[in-house]
Amino acid sequence: MTSMPHAHRLLDDTARDILRRNDRGGYTVPRPGLYPFQWNWDSAFVALGFATFDMDRAWQELETLLSGQWADGMIPHILFHRDDEGYFPGPDGWASGTRPRSSGITQPPVAATVVRELWQRDGADPTHSRMRALYPKLLASHRWFHRYRDPLQNGLVMVVHNWETGRDNSAEWDAALARVSARDVRPFQRRDTSHVDIAFRPTQAEYERYVALIEFGRARGWDPARVAAESPFRVVDVGMTMIMIRANRDLLALASALDDQPVVQELRARIALSQRGCDWLWNEDLGVHCSRDLVDGRPAALVTSASFLGFFAGIGSPAQRARLLERLAALADSVPYLVPSLAPGSRSYDPVRYWRGPVWLVVNALIARGLDEAGETALASRIRGDSRALVERSGFWEYFSPETGQGCGGDQFSWTAAMWLNDLTTAST
Ligand code: GLC
Repeated sequence: MTSMPHAHRLLDDTARDILRRNDRGGYTVPRPGLYPFQWNWDSAFVALGFATFDMDRAWQELETLLSGQWADGMIPHILFHRDDEGYFPGPDGWASGTRPRSSGITQPPVAATVVRELWQRDGADPTHSRMRALYPKLLASHRWFHRYRDPLQNGLVMVVHNWETGRDNSAEWDAALARVSARDVRPFQRRDTSHVDIAFRPTQAEYERYVALIEFGRARGWDPARVAAESPFRVVDVGMTMIMIRANRDLLALASALDDQPVVQELRARIALSQRGCDWLWNEDLGVHCSRDLVDGRPAALVTSASFLGFFAGIGSPAQRARLLERLAALADSVPYLVPSLAPGSRSYDPVRYWRGPVWLVVNALIARGLDEAGETALASRIRGDSRALVERSGFWEYFSPETGQGCGGDQFSWTAAMWLNDLTTAST
């Protein structure tokens, strides 16, 4: 039998090989074939993996991502640096008219958190030139969110496409998507199902609505104000909101190091606003924060993995935090592997279908980091232990069944390899 340290060293080697193999020169594809371009939050997580063996390459991953930032500040969710016929919808479907070509929507803003992390690894020097070069771009991207994606002005984050949340087919979006008409969508050929089993992927009816939302934005030239005001899909995502609050805290740390006082004040006010705003997402019956529809005001009333990101954001009253911990402890008793993306028992729960049940290591890393910082080390260790056990059992899959640990979606997946190498265990100072 191979000893554990030896097995871990082999897995470390494999994880580094995956990142090197998926490297396209300056950026990493999440999975060749299935996802052949640069994805926004994937790249941020991937940089954490590179940071364990090649700091230069880690910084470069984010620099390439930020090279695709739009003039208005948005960081697109996909950058199409090169053509690839294997993915739909490609650059022509989005028609963003940008260079590099890109999608017209964004993704969870983890970049500032990762830049802070890399900068700390490099010694937290305020004169660090690569951090200083990225800082104004990160600020512009946060201001874009504050300006266009906070219609209630309560510090929360609205999304106009479910793909922006990074949790593509979560049941939280079902009610809002049901209002999106796919009647005028022109016939198209999905490519994802030629790479992986359809049982793991969103359904055809869901996919048609995703495409309808792209056609909606494209018809408005991706004007951020118009899309935000008129989109049939307008939802406050609990996940994006928590990640944004955290990103503002991490950007604040950079602004303080740079002694950029106006921005320090701006971000402090923003964080305070969001802290209060989160109560709009609190669901007293369930004892967690939930996403909420902006068109009809209804809460999603679902316990998802994103419901547990409040610790990472540093929000919540002591009473709310106690309830969140109770919920998580109950989940821990109900599945062998934490954290299911949807709580078992929910009507739409499916242990192998994408974001309707499976465990994703990137979300686990954020939740565990938050729990550690809140002093909840036992639950944090359980989550980290489960993440490691999943890779040891099955390999570097895109995501995993919380019941059996089966690996699903694509294998040799970049962000899973990155989270094996660096799951944010080292606390920020
Ligand atoms: C899927 C995931 C999304 C991820 C992308 C690339 O669309 O839902 O979060 O960024 O794949 O891995």
